Amino acid sequence: MTFVAGLRSDLGPSGVLTGADAAPYLTGQRGLFTGEALAVVRPASVDETARVVRACASAGVAIVPQGGNTGMSGGAVPAAVGDSGTSALPATSEGSASPDPPRPSIVLSMTRMNRIVSVDPHRWTITAEAGATIETVQQAAAAANRLFAPDWGARGTATVGGAIATDAGGNNVLRYGTMRDHLLGLEAVLADGRVWDGLRALRKDSSGYDLKQLFIGAEGTLGVATRAVLRLHPATPHTQSALAAIRGLDRLMPLLELAASRCGNDVTAFELIPEVGLDRVCEKLALARPLHTREEFFLLVRLASSEPVSERLGAFLAEASERGWITDAAVAVTDEQESRLWTIRDELSPMFLWPQHEHGVKLDTAVPIDSLGPYHDEARRIAAELVPGALTYGFGHVGDGNIHLYVLPTSDDGVAPFLSVRDKLQERIDEATFRFGGTLSAEHGIGQLLRDRIGPQKPAVEWDLMRAVKNALDPQGIMNPHKTLPA
Ligand code: MLT
Ligand code: ZN
Repeated sequence: MTFVAGLRSDLGPSGVLTGADAAPYLTGQRGLFTGEALAVVRPASVDETARVVRACASAGVAIVPQGGNTGMSGGAVPAAVGDSGTSALPATSEGSASPDPPRPSIVLSMTRMNRIVSVDPHRWTITAEAGATIETVQQAAAAANRLFAPDWGARGTATVGGAIATDAGGNNVLRYGTMRDHLLGLEAVLADGRVWDGLRALRKDSSGYDLKQLFIGAEGTLGVATRAVLRLHPATPHTQSALAAIRGLDRLMPLLELAASRCGNDVTAFELIPEVGLDRVCEKLALARPLHTREEFFLLVRLASSEPVSERLGAFLAEASERGWITDAAVAVTDEQESRLWTIRDELSPMFLWPQHEHGVKLDTAVPIDSLGPYHDEARRIAAELVPGALTYGFGHVGDGNIHLYVLPTSDDGVAPFLSVRDKLQERIDEATFRFGGTLSAEHGIGQLLRDRIGPQKPAVEWDLMRAVKNALDPQGIMNPHKTLPA
């Protein structure tokens, strides 16, 4: 019996996909990375997951864990491989085996493990399987009058396991933190097929190494998450957002401080929207513009609380206007207006707006928050110098220092000249990111996209420590090879 036939006889026909059925799992959402796999394997339980991992470990088959496949960095699809399903990375120096030896792989799709295990309002936790979507978790929490705070545009497809794997962030990080701040307990299948049950719901636990932390941001390179205990917050029935036209990026910091001093912790989102994106989304979705005023940048601010927030939102906007920091603002007063503002925000990614997006330079940078304006200016200066005709497009979670910065050609004619300088442009912006003390990956992971670029961001000793962890937990190197750790 072949390896794949063995898996099929164990998991049944719906547990193993091949051929055209497997194809959608082999390409990442931005279309940048496509790999090959022997099969897409879809376990429906922890036991099945462990059996698949054991079978792979004994056959030397690599495992690429995958959630909703909404990742932006190619971490959840197999690396591009040769004809035989193997990669051709050279061995490392000193005769040691390559940490990523060529080997066939499977995609381990966790999407059948999509149940909410329990909601515990008194413990303020929810326990979910790794393949449950973020939206399912949000809805289950809301039904118990609790809030599961992580939230971003792909909420309906992105999964708990994928969010843990990349330490996903989204729109509420300013107030509630990233996935790391929400993971209280974890169950994972280790590279040798053992199941680690760390499903605890404790707020405090100083009993040694906090092993679950290793799995956050590890992109499935250490094992595969199967269930998670996640933290809940009080529900925020009073929610209101406003879109404000801002007078230059140097107003961001004063506006954030003003919002913090007038509205405190109720500021849950503080998002940057460029005019060019606002305009394009409204045109594409035939939405009425929320504001007719045109400025280069807009700020989408959301307050959320157990108490009414309108007065404080209004006072913040009035003061910002008096000080000349904003030139206009639209406050959402109906559910339709609120949801329109957030539709515009959710659809802002260039991959939804320009067919040429895949040729562009894409960054998911975070810098110390007071450096955001100067960093953005510097990136724009570099882009104007190297690719004068290209669009520099910064948007996103500026309230926590994270900006999605894209430089892209926006016409087919612009693609060839852009590609001729793309590597140089990327290198120069990366250097600027490091100079500003930033990270190339704030919430999208390293995956395949950043693996060859991320090295200079951390001292060699830090990568050595990560490799030591990798070797300890996955000595065979079968968990998601060619990802995350620089080659
Ligand atoms: C977002 O915040 O909309 C995303 O992370 C998507 C992107 O960077 O393109
Ligand atoms: Zn984002």
